[in-house]
Amino acid sequence: MRDGRFDELLNKAFERINASIDFDRRLYREDIRGSIAYAKALYKCGVLSAVEQEIIIKGLQSIEREIEDGSFVFRKEDEDIHMNIERRLHEKIGETAYKLHTGRSRNEQIVLDERLFLMDVTEKIARALVRLFTALFTQAKTHLHTIIPSYTHFRQAQPVSLAHLFLAYYTALRRDRNRLCGFQERLKEMPLGSGAAAGSSIGIDRDFLKDELHFKSLSRNSIDAVSTRDFILEFEFICSSILITLSRMSEDIILFSSDEISYFSLPDELSTSSSLMPQKKNPDSVELIRGKSARVIGNLIRILTLMKGLPYTYNRDLQEDKEGLFDTVDSTVDVLEVMFEVITGLKVNEERIQEVLRQSRGFLFATDLADYLVKKGVFFRNAHKAVGNIVKYALEKGKGLEELSLAEYKSFSRNFDKDVYGVFDYEKSVNRHDTTGGTAFHRIEEELTLIEEELKHLC
Ligand code: ARG
Repeated sequence: MRDGRFDELLNKAFERINASIDFDRRLYREDIRGSIAYAKALYKCGVLSAVEQEIIIKGLQSIEREIEDGSFVFRKEDEDIHMNIERRLHEKIGETAYKLHTGRSRNEQIVLDERLFLMDVTEKIARALVRLFTALFTQAKTHLHTIIPSYTHFRQAQPVSLAHLFLAYYTALRRDRNRLCGFQERLKEMPLGSGAAAGSSIGIDRDFLKDELHFKSLSRNSIDAVSTRDFILEFEFICSSILITLSRMSEDIILFSSDEISYFSLPDELSTSSSLMPQKKNPDSVELIRGKSARVIGNLIRILTLMKGLPYTYNRDLQEDKEGLFDTVDSTVDVLEVMFEVITGLKVNEERIQEVLRQSRGFLFATDLADYLVKKGVFFRNAHKAVGNIVKYALEKGKGLEELSLAEYKSFSRNFDKDVYGVFDYEKSVNRHDTTGGTAFHRIEEELTLIEEELKHLC
């Protein structure tokens, strides 16, 4: 904005960082929607005549078409999307264009555009999450009776249903979707009428603007309305939370599809080969999801840092809020789609899993053995110690826990009886963990029924 106040042209070096049009042009639809609603509000409060209103609206609509068909010429000298559209409107309809900005500031305009943009984007992400939920649900249902070792510290821990793992991912992502829904409510605060900082003096009908643009409430303080970017912080946090789960899922899938473990195979179309080693099948799709989480988290840190020292109200630093936001949106949408494909195409190698269970030679039942002793009246710490000694003994002898004789068991605790061998049953072990949220088959079945119902209502 050089008119009036300044005599000299903009410094060339400064010009390079001044313009945001290269990236904020992405908000053209929202900007035009906001301006059309604002033109209507200006007509309502008598600033525009009916004819002027119509000319402005038609002009804005034709600009939208120009941008869509690629004929619009964006100009760096016009700085941002707001000024580019205003300049073009002037070229098209003449002086009337200059009435549109009456009582309005770009400080509120940009917040409006960003909120409208996020209203749309959050719907998209919510839908992509539901798609992924469906894939996780299907895998869980298919593999309810597949038992794998669970891992703590990435060491074999206790037997669990593979469905339980798929539903763990679901549970985490379901929380993120809830966060997203709560966020959508907070997002729908309409900022127009805040002006540059003090509010509007032209009697604009804010409630009309709110309804026109499908907001739920009005921002309650004009200083806050143009100052805050907490809605961007919150959105980027939610995306980071989603990406962290997707990254950890990726890590599981990378490990579980490794040559050494091989519980899973990734479809070829989601893997790549090595340019040097012909035998390689690399899990690049999930590695990239894990990698993308870094940039989404980075973007969150970037906006947090941007905000922390700003005086109230608007400062130009805020222009730097957009590229990270767009990058987070694009990365989140993309990785959700890829993860849907990964989960859908994931093959579970039942035979390999059986082999691993056999090779574990009973050690996965160590906790069940301690529980067995507890049932016979031994205090848990003593039971834990006794089984610890048995494990040590078995390892020294090169035997599995299943292979020890009753006499050997009895030498560690007289409470062992021949029913001890009943402990070494994977299904029984899984089904003993019969609490809400536990891995027992019927608990998972109950959960699957709930989820099936839930998925019908999410869209
Ligand atoms: N391009 C600016 C931004 O992204 C729009 C608001 C500019 N306001 C101003 N007073 N310079 O924040």
